[in-house]
Amino acid sequence: MKEIVVSLRAEEAGPKISPDLYGHFAEHLGGCIYGGLWVGEDSEIPNVRGIRSDVVAALRELKIPNLRWPGGCFADEYHWMDGIGPLKDRPSIFNSHWGGVVENNHFGTHEFFELCEQLDCDAYVCGNVGSGTVLEMQQWVEYMTSPATSPMADLRRQNGREEPWRLTWFGVGNESWGCGGHMRPEYYSDLYRRYNTYVRTYGEHKIQRVACGPSDGDFNWTRVLMENSGRHMDALAFHSYTILNGTWPPSGSATEFGEIEYESLLREARKKEELIVKHSEIMDEFDPEKRVNLAMDEWGVWHPSEEGTNPGFLRQQNTMRDALVAAVHFEIFHRHCERVRLANIAQMVNVLQAMILTDGVDMALTPTYHVFRMNRVHQGAQRVSLAVGAEPEEAGATASAESSTVSVSLTNLDLGECRTFAIDGVDAKSATAEVLASASITEVNRPGQPPKVEPQPLAARLEGGRVMVELPPASFAVVSILV
Ligand code: AHR
Repeated sequence: MKEIVVSLRAEEAGPKISPDLYGHFAEHLGGCIYGGLWVGEDSEIPNVRGIRSDVVAALRELKIPNLRWPGGCFADEYHWMDGIGPLKDRPSIFNSHWGGVVENNHFGTHEFFELCEQLDCDAYVCGNVGSGTVLEMQQWVEYMTSPATSPMADLRRQNGREEPWRLTWFGVGNESWGCGGHMRPEYYSDLYRRYNTYVRTYGEHKIQRVACGPSDGDFNWTRVLMENSGRHMDALAFHSYTILNGTWPPSGSATEFGEIEYESLLREARKKEELIVKHSEIMDEFDPEKRVNLAMDEWGVWHPSEEGTNPGFLRQQNTMRDALVAAVHFEIFHRHCERVRLANIAQMVNVLQAMILTDGVDMALTPTYHVFRMNRVHQGAQRVSLAVGAEPEEAGATASAESSTVSVSLTNLDLGECRTFAIDGVDAKSATAEVLASASITEVNRPGQPPKVEPQPLAARLEGGRVMVELPPASFAVVSILV
């Protein structure tokens, strides 16, 4: 069996891996909010104040740092006042972006912060620049965060919430180059400065302001934004999905694919590194101190929608191929964590590369969920530099240290062969490991059925100062080394 050496440089103290790289995104889209997270207090599905308890319990295992809401494209036609006050009085609207369904606004600002409290995560709210006014945005921020006696804070109190909420991130528009208004960067960068002026910090907790950044390889957008507005922002959002062959619209299938499609998707995932490097280089010209965070606040695999579902709901299944795409992203994020300090997978439940798929009362944890759960050890830990003795298409690794534990995440990307990984460069006292793999690469977990792809303990042995593990084909493992 081929041996791959992973050489750790544990003596070089690396930067802290921001926990916010493990953020999530929940949009009013398909079954993400309605059915997936929110079922309402009268539902037969067990819930706490309308939010389903099984999903929250599973998500809490991920130590979610932050949640982005309400969109996405939905954010630029969301009018927040529709989503406050008694449920029966909230207007129904038409969700024109996603599936042409009625949105009853039962999940609004109060319900979002309730969800964040249940998940114990920070709130990341995205405001409406595309079809909303400066006043509307200013008032929403005041409503959420003002401790004072003021019209919006008083309205919040009338609606049952005395104390302001803690709002950590605020997005000034979403994809303003596309569904958020089809703007040019020069125009948006001026609008950003204007809207952002009124995103005030009312309480003691400073709001981090996120400007709409580029899509994929639109380097001009990054340059114009950084030059014109860089000093007014805390983060620049970057969206880049992983799509078969890198061509829009998504093609192929989430569950029926062979070696060629497997390799193509992973190749597309690895290409994100070059994009991050190029956008970062432009940001470095204007912000050499790396004060502005390159926030990949939408990422993940985008497959054609599952057959028999509303195509506008973006529901797709999830295999080990997708789980490995997630693992590759985390390797890249960790390597660039001096600049990339926030990321949000799209999306949390039932949409795109979801953590959880629900079907009525049932739910399933996807293989991607398990990568997030296993990799949570890196959140807030210190990155450890390393070298992998293999080509990027064969294997990958990332490592971090926290007190006396070094955690190493490994990917065996070979579809057909097991690989031995030999980890050296640490003085290991003992090691344990866990592996995620599937009997067949197209295996999935379905709601209401016994799970087929789940992590298993993996034997780790110490041999001549090295930690040895054997990974099955197309698998992901996390090794915890006590030093
Ligand atoms: O995540 C789905 C959509 O993808 C989002 O609404 C939008 O921002 C992006 O184009």
